[in-house]
Amino acid sequence: MVKFRISFMGLGYVGLVSAACFASRGFNVIGFDVDESKVKKINQGLSPIFEPGLSKLIEQSVKNGYLKSTTNLVEAIVNTDITFITVGTPSREDGNIDLRYVEEAARMIGETLQQKDEWHLVVVKSTVTPTTTEKVVKPIIEKASGKRCCKDFGLCMNPEFLREGSAVEDTFKADRIIIGEVDTRSGNILEALYREFYGNNIPPVIRTTPVNAELIKYANNAFLAMKVSFINMIANLCQKFPGADVEIVAKGIGLDKRIGPLFLKAGAGWGGSCWPKDLKALRNFANRVNIDLPLVDATLKVNDEQPYILVELAKSLIGNLAGRKIAVLGLSFKPNTDDMREAVSIRIIKKLIDEGAYVVVYDPAALNNAKKIFGNIVKFASSSIDCLKDADCALIVTEWDEFKRLKPDDFIKYMRTPAVVDGRRIYDPVVFSSKLRFAAVGLG
Ligand SMILES: NC(=O)c1ccc[n+]([C@@H]2O[C@H](COP(=O)([O-])OP(=O)(O)OC[C@H]3O[C@@H](n4cnc5c(N)ncnc54)[C@H](O)[C@@H]3O)[C@@H](O)[C@H]2O)c1
Repeated sequence: MVKFRISFMGLGYVGLVSAACFASRGFNVIGFDVDESKVKKINQGLSPIFEPGLSKLIEQSVKNGYLKSTTNLVEAIVNTDITFITVGTPSREDGNIDLRYVEEAARMIGETLQQKDEWHLVVVKSTVTPTTTEKVVKPIIEKASGKRCCKDFGLCMNPEFLREGSAVEDTFKADRIIIGEVDTRSGNILEALYREFYGNNIPPVIRTTPVNAELIKYANNAFLAMKVSFINMIANLCQKFPGADVEIVAKGIGLDKRIGPLFLKAGAGWGGSCWPKDLKALRNFANRVNIDLPLVDATLKVNDEQPYILVELAKSLIGNLAGRKIAVLGLSFKPNTDDMREAVSIRIIKKLIDEGAYVVVYDPAALNNAKKIFGNIVKFASSSIDCLKDADCALIVTEWDEFKRLKPDDFIKYMRTPAVVDGRRIYDPVVFSSKLRFAAVGLG
């Protein structure tokens, strides 16, 4: 059987990872992006983003000819059977979803489809608010192409669940495939593509309407974020009582099978390119149809305040921060990524600077992206040890493995006044408290 040829429109974390994974399994993949420098880099076999395992897949797939990227959409669409829309869907200033890239992608696809006689399947993979696929994408493609959906081209909504930091692994080992189909033929073809990709290891497939597929993605993110905000709320309660420790409380409740142990790690709060914007988009969308989502509101509220707990803990250890040197270990929104979008480090660092602190930062992957955000308001260190040198307090903001390996003696040896705030609960409080001034989120 001849494999489907596929194209991805938007080569960011989702589009590029998916493109490289499909190409690595022998599919002919064409990636299209409006960003010329990205396209050029990929064609040289290089990854424009940091994601474990991705560089190797791109290098091999470009070398053996399965992965090509282009800034010419006609080339991408005419030479493939299926096009995934994987452009960004950021937040607008008011929290509403910004659909401009999806709308533009749909219009460009429509115009290009005029030059193709064969039926073509379009798949919305970007996270979009309920009804967008049928009420926004479909009419835009129909108008720009002069063709009819279902008859001349197919349309599906197929949300993505990969996590940055383990995106390649998540793609190869997905929990489920959600296919929101406008018509049966489109759903059949998309399911057949995934059956070819996964073979006997295909995860459960849910075939449903586009609006259900859109809702599943938002409900999924909102539930996970709610779980983390919940344990952060309990952490803040624990902090009031000597002897209380949220880590033990989380372990205790996590063993209840109805709750489960995942996403019960208390810390400095969540950030990233998805949860903050998706929860706001869901809340605003619901409000527009006169539905309140009080749990989503509370989830966002807890998270808005959580990063500042680290600054308060630093003050509890060393007093006034004005003129003090504070080492911030970790900038990316989570480990194993260089993504700084909505990272809590940004809010923590701004607050430290407002308090008059002198801030030195280090991150194993995100320094280049961080430089664009912080400019010269912080000093960038070249290693964790370099960051700790002569500091009065160290804040653990991202749980990189490299920081987990630091011992109390490393802090004692290099810092002026060894004081550590563990914002990600990576250290044993008994060991650290016995050797230096130590505070941690959710530790009474
Ligand atoms: N990043 C994640 O972990 C993740 C996980 C699941 C779902 N999602 C969703 O997937 C979508 C993409 O997210 P991302 O993080 O990959 O975005 P991204 O910002 O990393 O990449 C988007 C890419 O689209 C390109 N682009 C913009 N307009 C274009 C156009 N008209 N044609 C072609 N390319 C265009 C940009 O140049 C960029 O390279 C979003 O809706 C996001 O919510 C993201």
